[in-house]
Amino acid sequence: MYKFTLPLCSANMPVLDQEPSKDLGGGDGLPKLPLPVLKDTLDMYLRCMKHLLTEEQFNKTQNVVKQFGAPGGVGELLQSKLVERRENKANWVYDYWLNDMYLNNRLALPVNSSPVMVFPQQNFRAPIDSLRFAAHLISGVLEYKTLLDSRALPVDYARGQLAGTPLCMEQYYRIFTSYRLPGPERDTLVAQESSVMPEPEHIIVACKNQFFVLDVVINFRRLNERDLLAQVEKIARMADSEEERVPPIGLLTSDGRTEWAESRSVLMKESTNRDSLDMIERCLCLVCLDDASGPELSDSARAMLMLHGGGVAKNGGNRWYDKPMQFVVGAGGCCGVVCEHSPFEGIVLVQCTEFLLKYMIGSPSKLVRAASVSELPAPRKLRWKCTPEIHKLLASSADKLQRQVENLDMNVHKFYNYGKEFIKKQKMSPDAYIQVALQLAYYRCHSRLVSTYESASIRRFQKGRVDNIRSATPEALAFVKAMTDGELSTSETEKMEMLRSAINVQTKYTILAITGMAIDNHLLGLREIAHELQMEKPEIFKDEAHRISNHFILSTSQVPTTVEMFCCYGPVVPNGYGACYNPQSDHIIFCVSSFHESPETCSTEFVKCLVQALLDMRDLCNKCNSGSNPTQQRQGQTLETHTQTDTSWQRKTPQKPTELTKNQQMLPQILLKTPDQTKVEAQTQTSSQGDAQGLKNGSKS
Ligand code: COA
Repeated sequence: MYKFTLPLCSANMPVLDQEPSKDLGGGDGLPKLPLPVLKDTLDMYLRCMKHLLTEEQFNKTQNVVKQFGAPGGVGELLQSKLVERRENKANWVYDYWLNDMYLNNRLALPVNSSPVMVFPQQNFRAPIDSLRFAAHLISGVLEYKTLLDSRALPVDYARGQLAGTPLCMEQYYRIFTSYRLPGPERDTLVAQESSVMPEPEHIIVACKNQFFVLDVVINFRRLNERDLLAQVEKIARMADSEEERVPPIGLLTSDGRTEWAESRSVLMKESTNRDSLDMIERCLCLVCLDDASGPELSDSARAMLMLHGGGVAKNGGNRWYDKPMQFVVGAGGCCGVVCEHSPFEGIVLVQCTEFLLKYMIGSPSKLVRAASVSELPAPRKLRWKCTPEIHKLLASSADKLQRQVENLDMNVHKFYNYGKEFIKKQKMSPDAYIQVALQLAYYRCHSRLVSTYESASIRRFQKGRVDNIRSATPEALAFVKAMTDGELSTSETEKMEMLRSAINVQTKYTILAITGMAIDNHLLGLREIAHELQMEKPEIFKDEAHRISNHFILSTSQVPTTVEMFCCYGPVVPNGYGACYNPQSDHIIFCVSSFHESPETCSTEFVKCLVQALLDMRDLCNKCNSGSNPTQQRQGQTLETHTQTDTSWQRKTPQKPTELTKNQQMLPQILLKTPDQTKVEAQTQTSSQGDAQGLKNGSKS
C-alpha cells in the first residue's frame, strides 16, 4: 500500500495554492476568466469609493488613480503583464486570490475564517442515538466519496442571474483530499494524490479531545453502516477511559496561523507526534463526537458552538481546524459541519452537506439493533508526546480560543414576514433587494455606509472561485438617506424610484461580477503582479482609500439551502458584521455576527434595524407598486409576530419527536423544501438525492 514518508506529509502532497498540473474537474470547455479593461476598473473604483471617503480623501485618490491609469504609466505596464499571465494560466487570478483571501491570513480559523453549517436540533434520547447518527452520516460520506472518485458527480449549472451556464466543478474534488498546512508566513493548501495505488482511507473521529483513526476500508471492503456503528461505539468507550486521556492537542489548530505553525514544528520533533499528525493530515474528514452542551439550544447558541466549539470547557479541543470538513455530532443534538474555507466555497459545502442529509433521510438507517459485536480491529487512538513546552503552548491556545468564545456576538434571525416570492413579484432581484436592505440596516445603526463585500461566484470560468459585489453603491446611499430622513422631504414615489434605482445598480454589479468583470480581483492582480515584478508598491495601493476599500465592515454572502439548515460565519474585521442569508420562498434566515469587544457593533441592534428595513421596504413596495395584488399587499402586513429570533423553525418539522415511531427516530430531524422553495446557485443530482426526493415531499427536481 502506498505509504507517505515522514516527517512532512506536505512534502508528499501536491501544493494546491499553485495551479495543479492536471485538471481537477470542470475546467474543460469552460472559458478563461476575462481580464477587465484597466480604465473600466479604475472608473468603477472611484465610483464605488467616492461616497465612502471624505472630500479630501477622494480628491487625493482621484489624482493617484489618474496617475496610475495615465497613458504609458504603471497601470498600463501592469495590465500588459496581466494579459500575458492570462494567456499562460487557466485562471490568472486564482493563486493571487487564494493567498490573499486565505493562505496569507494569519488570523485563527475558528470564527474568523471557517464557515459552519448548522443542522436543526436533533433529538437524541440516548447516547447510542448520536453514535447511530454519526455512523449513518459517515456512511453517506463514503457514498459521496464514491461519486467523487468515479467522477460521477453531474456538472452544476448556474441558477438565478444568467442561469443555465455550466460551472467549474474543481472545488468538489478538494472536499476530502485537501489540507491547510500552517506556515510561519503563509499556509499551504495541499492535496493527496496517488496515481499508483489507492490511498489508505480513514476518517479521524474526535471524542473527548482524543483522536481516533477509523479505517473505512478494511481488507478491501468498505465498511457498512453496522460496522461503522460498532467502530464508533468502540471509540466512544475508549475515549471514556480516564487513565488514557491525552491533552487536547486540537486546540493548537484553533490558534493564529503563525502560532500554530510554530507549535506544529515543536510537535514534529517527536516521531510519535509526526505519525499522529500524518494520520490526521491524510484523513478524509473529521467526525467530532461532541459532549452535550446543555439542554436544547437556540439557533444562535448552536451557531456559536459550531463556530468555536464553546472553548476548552466544552468542545473547543475536539476539533482539527485545518481539515476542510469536520462533521460535528453533539450528544445533546447540536450537529453541523465546520469547514476550512480555502479549498472551496460555501455553495459546494451546501451541496455536499445536502447530499448527506438527503442520503440520511432517503436511505433510512439499517441499524435496527445496535451492532455491538464486531470482528473488526479496534480503531487506533492517536498518541502524542507532550513536553512542558507543548503544555504551555496548549494553555496559550486555550486562552485565545476562550477570548473568541467570549467575544462572538451572534444573532440568528428567521424573518417570516415574507421571502423571495414577494420580492420577485415586485419584479426585483431578491438578492439585490436583500443587499439594499442590509445597507439600510447598517445606515440605521451607524448613520453611514461602509465598504461592503458580497461574494459572487465566478465558477462560470475555469478554476473560478469568487469576486466581490460592492453593495454600498451611491444609489443605495441615496435610498437609505431618503428612508431615514426624519423631515419627510421625499415622497413615497420618489423613494420607490430610489429603491428601484439602488436595486437595478446592485443587479448590474452582480452581473458584472459573475461575468468576471468586477474590480476587486483585477485590482488584486495589478497589486500582486507589481510585487512579483519587484516594483515599488504603486501609490494607488498605498493610498488610504485602498485600505478603506478593503476593510469590509459588512461581509455578506447568500448561502441558500434546500434542506432545513443554515450557514454562518464571523465578521472579517474587528468592527464589522458577518451577515449570511438564506432566502426561501416565504421567509429569509439571517445569521448576523459581530464582536462584543467592538464598541461600534451589536448583532441584536443590527438585526432589529434589518427587520425594520425589510418591513419598511415591503410597505413602500405595497404602497407604490400598482402591480401588486391585494393578497400580495396583505402579505406581511399583520405579520409582526412572524419574525422571530431563534429556536422555532423546528416547528416546521412534520411531527414532534415524541410522536415519532421507533423507525423514524433513526432519521435525522431535517425538513426538505417543496420544489418552488428550492434555489441554489447550482444543483447536483444524484440517484440518492432522487431517492430522498421520492421519499420526502419532493425537493428540487
Ligand atoms: N424579477 C423577478 N424575478 C427576478 C428578478 C426580477 N427583476 N431578478 C431576479 N429574479 C429571480 C431570478 O430569476 C431567480 O429566479 P429563480 O429562483 O427562478 O432561479 C431568483 O430571482 C434569484 O435571483 P437573484 O436574487 O437575482 O440572485 P441569484 O440567485 O442570481 O444570486 C448571487 C446572486 C450573487 C448570490 C449569485 O450569483 C452567486 O454568486 N452566488 C454564490 C454566492 C456564494 O459564493 N456564496 C458562498 C460564499 S462562501
